[in-house]
Amino acid sequence: MDNINEKIINIQKDALNEIKSAKESKKLEDIRINYLGKKGELTSILKMLGTLTKEERPVVGDKVNRLRVEIEEALNGAVMQLKKAETDVKFESEKTDLTLKGSAQKYVRRHPLQAIFDEVEDIFLGMGFSIAEGPEIEKEYYNFEALNMPASHPARDSQDTLYFNKELLLRTHTSPVQIRTMEKMAPNPVRVICPGRVYRRDTIDATHSPQFHQIEGLVVDKNVKFSDLIGALEVFIKKMFGEERKIRLRPGFFPFTEPSAEVDVSCIICGGSGCPACKNNGWLEILGSGTVHPFVLKAGGYDPEIFTGYAFGMGIERIAMLKYGVPDIRMFFENDIRFLHQF
Ligand code: DAH
Repeated sequence: MDNINEKIINIQKDALNEIKSAKESKKLEDIRINYLGKKGELTSILKMLGTLTKEERPVVGDKVNRLRVEIEEALNGAVMQLKKAETDVKFESEKTDLTLKGSAQKYVRRHPLQAIFDEVEDIFLGMGFSIAEGPEIEKEYYNFEALNMPASHPARDSQDTLYFNKELLLRTHTSPVQIRTMEKMAPNPVRVICPGRVYRRDTIDATHSPQFHQIEGLVVDKNVKFSDLIGALEVFIKKMFGEERKIRLRPGFFPFTEPSAEVDVSCIICGGSGCPACKNNGWLEILGSGTVHPFVLKAGGYDPEIFTGYAFGMGIERIAMLKYGVPDIRMFFENDIRFLHQF
């Protein structure tokens, strides 16, 4: 009996000491197994109860049970303390100083061509247009044929084309989206702009690039008149280049419009008095336009006896070069951060 009592006192002393000096949860788990587990120290004492008298057994049993509770509580307390210490360390290391200055995001900028796209789109969306798109790999039919440019047509020469085969090519302009949109919309009215990338077999220099961008416009409805085209372009050009600008129409030729007009804006650099940008004549050519040719309306699924329309097309790089004073088209595609950073 004395022997057992002494053992119990030793277990109590050892267990509580070990618990006190444990520095990690794993160690506490080991202690739990060592003292309270099935093969642990306390269980081994319970196994010795058989050697005691009837009177002694409940006394020892009671002591062992109390000690079990005591060790359990000490363990639980220690586990909680350790966990708290561990999260304190974690929180401390992850602490964010909200007063620190942020790092400047200096390279997040809109590309100048995107800025022009956004501006032109905003203006036309405000005039009730919506946006239509078409593929860059286009059928010969949409790029030429349906736009009143049959294979023998001389106008095809002015758009040096990159072909995949007889029927497939890289679109040379955004005008094929006119036909694709009409096919989808007929016989409902159309009022769209079509932004996109186009390709031509051009040698690259300061004003030419084999890839560039255009925005096309198309309106088809009953009673659309040439004067509607002039009105819409005047609003666009003044919003885009300034209220003080004038516009000028010159006769032009495009197979898909009849009549056709080249549209100029009074020079946005010198205001019309003459400078190198406008080659001293005071005007800048901005876009091509006209009344949709009956052949094109028919190809799009509209009866030219009932429907009329107007169309226009402009080059984005040219507008960006004029507006930002960029001297070389290649700058838009080189992605030199020192260039892009200026917009
Ligand atoms: N597609 C012509 C080009 O790339 C531009 C153009 C001119 C589009 C007149 C039109 C238009 O819709 O009516 O040169």
